[in-house]
Amino acid sequence: MKKQNVVAELERLRKELDRHNYLYYVLAKPEISDYEFDRMLEKLIALENEFPNLKTPDSPTQRVGGGITKEFPTVRHRERMLSLSNTYSVEEVGDFYRRVLKLLPGRSKHQGGPAFVAELKFDGVAVSLLYRDGKLVRGATRGDGVQGDDITPNIRTLRSVPLRLGSFSDTPLFSTGSDAEIEVRGEVFMRKDDFTALNEARPEDEQFANPRNATAGTLKLQDSAEVARRKLFFVAYYLKGAPFDDLAHHDRLKELEHLGFYTGGNYRLCYDLEDIYEFIDYWHEQRWELPYEIDGVVLKLNDVSLWEELGATSKSPRWAIAYKYPAQRARTVLRKVVFQVGRLGTVTPVAHLEPVKLAGTTVARSTLHNLDEIERLDIRLNDTVEIEKAGEIIPKVISVVREERPENAGFITVPEVCPSCGTPLQRPADEVNFYCPNEETCPAQVKARLEHFASRNAMDINGLGKAVIEQLVNSKQVYDAGDLYTLTHDKLLKLDRQGERSATKLLRAIEESKKRGYDRVLFALGIRHAGLATARELVSAYPSLDKLQAASTEEMAEVPDIGPVIAESVHAFFRKPYVVEMIEKLRASGLCFAAAKPAVQVSHVFDGMKVIFTGGLERYTRDKAAELVLERGGEVVASVSKNTDLVVAGKEPGGKLEKARKLGIKMISEDEFEEMLGKQ
Ligand code: IVH
Repeated sequence: MKKQNVVAELERLRKELDRHNYLYYVLAKPEISDYEFDRMLEKLIALENEFPNLKTPDSPTQRVGGGITKEFPTVRHRERMLSLSNTYSVEEVGDFYRRVLKLLPGRSKHQGGPAFVAELKFDGVAVSLLYRDGKLVRGATRGDGVQGDDITPNIRTLRSVPLRLGSFSDTPLFSTGSDAEIEVRGEVFMRKDDFTALNEARPEDEQFANPRNATAGTLKLQDSAEVARRKLFFVAYYLKGAPFDDLAHHDRLKELEHLGFYTGGNYRLCYDLEDIYEFIDYWHEQRWELPYEIDGVVLKLNDVSLWEELGATSKSPRWAIAYKYPAQRARTVLRKVVFQVGRLGTVTPVAHLEPVKLAGTTVARSTLHNLDEIERLDIRLNDTVEIEKAGEIIPKVISVVREERPENAGFITVPEVCPSCGTPLQRPADEVNFYCPNEETCPAQVKARLEHFASRNAMDINGLGKAVIEQLVNSKQVYDAGDLYTLTHDKLLKLDRQGERSATKLLRAIEESKKRGYDRVLFALGIRHAGLATARELVSAYPSLDKLQAASTEEMAEVPDIGPVIAESVHAFFRKPYVVEMIEKLRASGLCFAAAKPAVQVSHVFDGMKVIFTGGLERYTRDKAAELVLERGGEVVASVSKNTDLVVAGKEPGGKLEKARKLGIKMISEDEFEEMLGKQ
């Protein structure tokens, strides 16, 4: 292709991808499938790799992340990022409304009083975006309001953040000088379903309490590729820049949408207090239908020219206020406590409650966490309890209403043997949990392992839910995940409520799951402490199961982010006889136990080479570096031996470097590595 044509083709692909991104993430009206989108993106990636000097920071290819930021620089906000004063009652909202009215006598553009914009109060993390000449140049956290962290590499990965303003439109949206600055503020948040999926992919002791914590934790990650995977969203609620100076706030929200931002669309102009109350009431119930969490409503004076006049207190503006919905609590009665055995043998007390409506759902169960919690709450059967939705997702018993303790209140008896298999329970000296040690055959553990295996981050086997697993295990057709792949129509038809059609569908889903990559398979095996992110680390250090099984604990502990606890857990796992047996069955069924061959062969510079990374790379994650080597014919290995061909040494390289030096293996720096990548 001629250079001129390449430039045009790059621009066409970028614009087209931007447009589809906008259709998907902002308008929720996609015109093409995810598959088609990915093909188009791959095409652009390949073309950019072929012409690396034509890469741009605002290309859609940059959204996949990959860079590592050691420390986020501190930056000053152009204008202080204020917070909002909170109110918890509608009376206070009335006070606010009258106060503004009094401060602005006769200044309103509308009859009767000034107009307000009522918006939803998104429960996430406030972020400021800076655009220069229509291009995203900076994304920063609020910090202390005066200065925050520059998290631009992470912000770039959010698909609802336009990298170029209105780039999908053919007509210019506004005319700016080349250095015109526009600031957009809004909230980064995680959808409820993405939050649940993220937690499912994490070891139990590393789960986030609510979507807001998950968002905050994700934005702070040094590895932008991981941020890209976690699907954060950005909702815009503030626009500032010379082209929009004359617009009222409501018009600015509309303008944000034209520029390519997601606003959620659920805002409304209110002309009096009644309108405002109506909005608050409506969303009180309706908010449970939203795919994300809101914790209140925000009211802003519509006429922006009056904002300055009203000014601000030290923390918050006088022209806006937040109304927060009351905490979601309810009272109900504890009927019984059931001790549930989890995938790793942990015994958890689960409260069975008199069903009660709370935060948009009916709650009949709640976790009591562990025995210490039962003691701490001093909870008895038939007690009236107060429950709350923590992070408004998982209901939790927070207290016992002692005045209402009935005569028949009963003590909760803690089982001495496993409720599922009858094996005596164990409690390690320094732990609050009891365990069932019968890992291999305890039906509760077997079922929970299968549920994990089939879950969406793992093998994602649609139709293989709790009920089906229950029957498969109880009828002794399935002992472990390996047996799933030998199921037949006949076997499935013997189960309750399994018709011809659902059996066919399930078998197809099981067959389909054989296509999952090695990282997902490794995660699905359910190794203690190994979430999906750990599985990925392991895959890039040990690209096949044979290599992983052969690795020693010490060697594994040297892999970044693995450490001795996980290494020990992984090492022990593969030495359990029932695991060995299961893996044999899975192998025989054709599951993937090695990292995929690269989709594209970019060049042959690493052909046949065994490459090792040591120390921290500044511009690539380990995953990315491994992928780049694979795409160029090489292979990444985890430990140095005489067969190693090349060592890439980053910052603070470990013992591997010393060993490599002794063996006389060729060593290069990150810069030299980068140079090799560019060679044809
Ligand atoms: S306006 C000066 N609008 O709530 C006005 N904030 O409690 C600044 N928030 O720091 C904020 N939804 O993180 C505004 N529709 C919305 C909002 C919103 C959520 C957050 C924001 C702010 C905090 C204040």
